[in-house]
Amino acid sequence: MTTINRRGALRAVGASVGALLVSNAVYAASKPVTRSVPNPDDPAMVDGVEAWKFAKIDPQSVADQAYNDYPVGHCMHTTFKAIVDHVADALETSDPLAARAMKAFPFHMFHYGSSGGDGLGSLCGSLNGAMAAINLFVSNDKVRKAITNELAIYYERTLLPVYEPDDAKNEPFPRTVANSVLCHVSSGKWCELAQVRSGSPERTERCSRLSADVAKKAAELLNLNMAALNSADLAPVVSLKRSEPTATCVKCHDKGGDTGDVIGKMTCGECHPEKTPDHHDRKE
Ligand code: HEC
Ligand code: HEC
Repeated sequence: MTTINRRGALRAVGASVGALLVSNAVYAASKPVTRSVPNPDDPAMVDGVEAWKFAKIDPQSVADQAYNDYPVGHCMHTTFKAIVDHVADALETSDPLAARAMKAFPFHMFHYGSSGGDGLGSLCGSLNGAMAAINLFVSNDKVRKAITNELAIYYERTLLPVYEPDDAKNEPFPRTVANSVLCHVSSGKWCELAQVRSGSPERTERCSRLSADVAKKAAELLNLNMAALNSADLAPVVSLKRSEPTATCVKCHDKGGDTGDVIGKMTCGECHPEKTPDHHDRKE
């Protein structure tokens, strides 16, 4: 087997990037670039009109729609559509053009998000859909990241699902803390507790309720953000703290940290249970 060390591999990558840069330079010389760079602080503009503006929505009603429409296109589709439909309805009288644009959204594009990306078990689709909706309405990168991270922490750490459909109020239903944003881990833990298979109707019911919870939380955060808009203060939106030791691990290891060697804010202990915040001081 041929082996290649890291340095060698990087050199090889560097060489091909170099070739790419050269070919791009040739391309640029023959074809002037007219694309403008979007300003992250500007709302999404279409023909000079603020196209994707947010309007206050009723979180409980968003949750009901996310739950009821789950069978249409599953988790990602349902959280995204419930939020966008509600914003469109809220703008119906004040801005019918914006409302119409929202209603015409190609919602079917989010069917792929089910079961963590067409069955991959990666990022939970309910979270993915809600994050997409947040991205649609919050153009400032820093604010958007604060909101999506808040939602992710809520998802990882809350005993879910909380939502109860009208016909099953106060009936016992299994709840778990996922400790992960991954569909695989989140649904796996729930199936284990409920003693059901992943393809069971019970698991589908759980993910319908979970989607309702995530859509509701996202709606609440968007409402809060609207109330605080134009203020640099993120305090109203950001109330949850990443649990320890993950918060400490992130400080060193995530981008911008001392070690800065990985990308990630997921709960570290799910996959590195043996690590402690001071592991680097120890002789192993
Ligand atoms: C004070 C900074 C710091 C903190 C806090 C920290 N680490 Fe580390 N970590 C390091 C350093 C330095 C290394 C060694 C880096 C290397 O070998 O390139 C390392 C290595 C690692 C490695 C890979 C190498 C190995 O030895 O297995 C993992 C995995 C890891 N840390 C996970 C964690 C987790 C999980 C936490 C939180 C519980 C954490 N770290 C907290 C600094 C830190
Ligand atoms: C879903 C599982 C999972 C989660 C969650 C996770 N990791 Fe990892 N991590 C891995 C795997 C798998 C590897 C690669 C194998 C290894 O080095 O252990 C890895 C590798 C690493 C490495 C070594 C990188 C290197 O250069 O060798 C560090 C450091 C690390 N993780 C830190 C963290 C920290 C900090 C967190 C929490 C913010 C975290 N990980 C969360 C699965 C995970």
